[in-house]
Amino acid sequence: MNLQKDIERLKKEKNAVILAHNYQRAEVQEIADFVGDSLELARKATKISAQIIVFAGVDFMAETAKILNPEKKVLIPSKIASCEMARFLSPEMIDEYRRKYPGAKVVLYVNSTAACKAKADITCTSANAVRVVNSLDADTILFGPDANLASYVARHTEKRIIPLPPNGHCYVHTNLNVENVRRDGLLLVHPECPPELQDIADAIASTGGMVKFVANSDAKRFIVATERDMVSRLRHDFPDREFVPAWENAICLGMKQITLERIYRSLKDEVYEVTVPEDIAKKARIAIERMLEVS
Ligand code: 13P
Ligand code: SF4
Repeated sequence: MNLQKDIERLKKEKNAVILAHNYQRAEVQEIADFVGDSLELARKATKISAQIIVFAGVDFMAETAKILNPEKKVLIPSKIASCEMARFLSPEMIDEYRRKYPGAKVVLYVNSTAACKAKADITCTSANAVRVVNSLDADTILFGPDANLASYVARHTEKRIIPLPPNGHCYVHTNLNVENVRRDGLLLVHPECPPELQDIADAIASTGGMVKFVANSDAKRFIVATERDMVSRLRHDFPDREFVPAWENAICLGMKQITLERIYRSLKDEVYEVTVPEDIAKKARIAIERMLEVS
């Protein structure tokens, strides 16, 4: 059995496309129709004509694709491909913060549940967070669930940024700290990393921003402070440069649930279908579409 060939055949037979995040395993990125960061994937999801979308990423990304494509079948190859950061925030916490800060606007990182997005004024990704915040007509912004991205935004805007909650974070990026990252090259840092690491970065960027930064740089060797497989994307796009993970153990377990075997099964049996209740999807769609308009 040749999984790659069988996946290609099923894609054609079923009129399906595979969207993959930059943190996917190299072999998954290879069979994908499109590879990108959260913003690029959300944008791509609005332009798909195929009837089935297989999402090689984590739950919130597949949910976003479904919210933007209610009439299409969106599949995620694993039921446990989840983003741990999204667990830091609940709809009730958003209500509580809104009561505490009347007049403030709620900006939610797409790494959040659909039920939380339904309570947001607008969503953002790490690629457009500052632009999204600056587009709002409020001086106080409740920003969640990532406190590190909130602190990055706070340094780049005049507005008052309140992290919602104060301790939301990603275990993969928080464990990338000044003590354990190597620095023998140009250091690229994702804004989910702690501020102390951001302080010593040569560039702070989303995963898509890292690809653009390298494209515009003459440097030959880059140290990549984000999920380890980001180097798979960069090595593919820039075979003449050298990319090294800043720390070998920066692995997102949710992302790594997606394998070629599971993608094959997902296409063959049309599992697992992503569903979002319509009342939640309707409100979340408004927040996501506002973001796409601003970016
Ligand atoms: P990007 O939008 O930069 O791809 O980030 C998504 C993510 O989950 C980072 O951990
Ligand atoms: Fe979520 Fe962190 Fe994985 Fe990104 S790396 S999907 S924030 S758990």
